Amino acid sequence: MTTYRHIDVRPVAGALGAEVAGVDASGPVPDEIVVEVRRALLENLVIFMRDQRLEPQSQLAFARRFGTPMIYPLIKGLEDCPEVTPVIKEAEDKVNFGGIWHSDTAYQEVPPLGSLLYAREVPPVGGDTEFANMYLAFERLSAGMQHMLERLVAVNMSGKGRARATRSAMRSAAATALADDALAAAHPVVRVHPETGRKALYVNVAHTSRFQDMSEDESRPLLEFLFGHLARPEFTCRFRWEPGTLAFWDNRCTQHNALNDYHGHRRLMHRVTLEGDRPGGPG
Ligand code: SIN
Repeated sequence: MTTYRHIDVRPVAGALGAEVAGVDASGPVPDEIVVEVRRALLENLVIFMRDQRLEPQSQLAFARRFGTPMIYPLIKGLEDCPEVTPVIKEAEDKVNFGGIWHSDTAYQEVPPLGSLLYAREVPPVGGDTEFANMYLAFERLSAGMQHMLERLVAVNMSGKGRARATRSAMRSAAATALADDALAAAHPVVRVHPETGRKALYVNVAHTSRFQDMSEDESRPLLEFLFGHLARPEFTCRFRWEPGTLAFWDNRCTQHNALNDYHGHRRLMHRVTLEGDRPGGPG
């Protein structure tokens, strides 16, 4: 484990995730802290900074230290700050946004580097988010399976049924002009992380519909195996939010799943998503 001079980094699970203390994201953040936060992200894949006091503009300013914020394609952002997307489940809603294992918007040609999600209102209990380590998911496969997957490309679609359902309540309140099923992109099944050089499994149950040049029926058995495999408990951590917690995940090597176990309570998060790069395969 590497050491840090300016921040305190405490892993929350064996697979991934760390709580990071010593960062005040609301003000000007010194360069040496930005460098260590970035390193903590690359080493832990998702980091959590508690007790922050952020307004949309200050969250955006902090996010800009790590990349270029982008507009989420299918849900409108805040009126005066469109790069900040509210993620809301009202007390009377039954579905929650992101309540399925996924990598964010894998149906875009250039999916995001990562997201910074800030908890504004959380239920008294429930509403945790699970994260999974896609390096480990790849590394724990047999050499034969790894070799086969490294040569495959997957087709990812925004219109896949269950993922589409998790957006339904929020789209009825704040849909963009883009049709819900308008986006599709083909990406390597195994992507090489552009900063660490490590290989990560890059298919997800929310968006991946089939392998390129194969039918959905032909693809289903292997995809179903991979969807079950990548969410094995030993590849995951589960995070309990408090108001004021800011999470930052690396979308290139993780997946997440927002648990929907708090009917009757409101949960409000603000998300800023950072531009990424086109996924590259091992070939
Ligand atoms: C998301 O998928 O971006 C939402 C995650 C969450 O609300 O915990």
